[in-house]
Amino acid sequence: MESLIQGLDETQLNLLLILSSNNESIKLIGEHLGKTEPHTLTTPEAREKLQKVKDQFKKIEEALSSKIKEIATGDPMTSKLIQKKPIRVYMDGCFDAIHYGHMNAIRQAKALGDILIVGINKGDEIEKAKGPTIMDDEERIALASACKFGDEFVGYTAYTPTVKLLDELNADYCAHGDDIAFNELGQCCYDEIIKAGRMKYFRRTEGISTTDLTGKLLFNILTEEDKKTEIYKQFEQFKKPAQSKFLTTSRRMALFSNNKAPKPEDKVVYFPGDFDLLGIGTIEALKKAKEAGDFVYLGVYDDDIVHKLKGSNYPFLNVNERTMNLLALRYVDEVVINPMYKINEEFIKVMKINVVFNAGKGEDKSASMNYDGLGDPFEIPKKMGIYQYAEVEHEISNKLFEERIAKHKDHFMKKFIKKTINDEKSKAQSKIQVDEI
Ligand code: CTP
Repeated sequence: MESLIQGLDETQLNLLLILSSNNESIKLIGEHLGKTEPHTLTTPEAREKLQKVKDQFKKIEEALSSKIKEIATGDPMTSKLIQKKPIRVYMDGCFDAIHYGHMNAIRQAKALGDILIVGINKGDEIEKAKGPTIMDDEERIALASACKFGDEFVGYTAYTPTVKLLDELNADYCAHGDDIAFNELGQCCYDEIIKAGRMKYFRRTEGISTTDLTGKLLFNILTEEDKKTEIYKQFEQFKKPAQSKFLTTSRRMALFSNNKAPKPEDKVVYFPGDFDLLGIGTIEALKKAKEAGDFVYLGVYDDDIVHKLKGSNYPFLNVNERTMNLLALRYVDEVVINPMYKINEEFIKVMKINVVFNAGKGEDKSASMNYDGLGDPFEIPKKMGIYQYAEVEHEISNKLFEERIAKHKDHFMKKFIKKTINDEKSKAQSKIQVDEI
């Protein structure tokens, strides 16, 4: 509507109002006048006048409809077509070991237009540009597609996108963070699109990257033997402080949240856990939790509990970061941050929970869990008959990530070094800096 108002002058807008007016008496007189042929009139003055008015009216009407057509690029007779054409934005990435920085990127890219197409780059092209990925193509596609901020997802996309690709996807623009992504030739991947004037930027989220996570994973699994190698000596020089630099502000949380409570008729599911690095097993489990009801609450354990449950190196992400990860997923309705570990009746009643859900690879081991002498955290829901366990194909914990990294330690150390150098180069060369949307 705004483009229509901007595109027409005041006389034309007035005419549009008159033409579409519902005033019955004016409508009838107007219709009658329209149907009257000048030659049926008796006086030559009246005949001449009516002919002039009819000619003028035709001209104005034609000019108005072609202008509307121009604005709406469609048939002006239907109101649908005078709506604004949606802006389609394409953003791409590797989305390896997907994290809330990627999710915030997808959220911001979506805000740059109306429809967001997310492209997940081909593994072999990523490998050439920056080294191997932890997750394979199918896994990265499944994980990125779980992000609720994207509308359309396309896999196996080129690491260096082209104008041709944008046209094929019917995308008006391409979007990327305000850091530079270098291809295997050391050039910016988006040069062609920038030259075509079809590039948009959003702010890269500070304090989180796949490289940082890879570094942490490597430090966790490297043996004393590994530490004697030449590559380790180089890798060690790039070690960064473990402290998270991500700022969890209330605005960011609000932007990720659905701001939705369960409806009275909803079957409410509660699924607690540590939900550290987001892997394919977590997505499988969340899909099953969503199938178990209508509204899914996740409970995200406090860092201290995870530390005691999983060991001193865990969690990788603090409770705020894990919450942000989960809120970005389409299978999650709401997150309970730092819930009580042993679920009691009062909690179930207050939260109106119908199903207490748990999942894992293999059989249910919850009966043997014992944190702080509390025993099975699901003891009460089990007694109430509302406990449900689902087996998933892949590990939900960080184990899958550690196994993958352990298989190719040298490759990942090399990648860590290369990416850290590239990131520093990108920081130094990047001339664009935009504010977070
Ligand atoms: N991105 C972001 N904030 C981050 C990490 C990534 O905004 N902390 C953005 C990138 O700018 C890019 C998109 O997410 O537009 C996809 O990034 P990806 O290709 O997966 O890789 P990197 O930019 O290298 O990110 P990472 O170091 O986490 O792999």
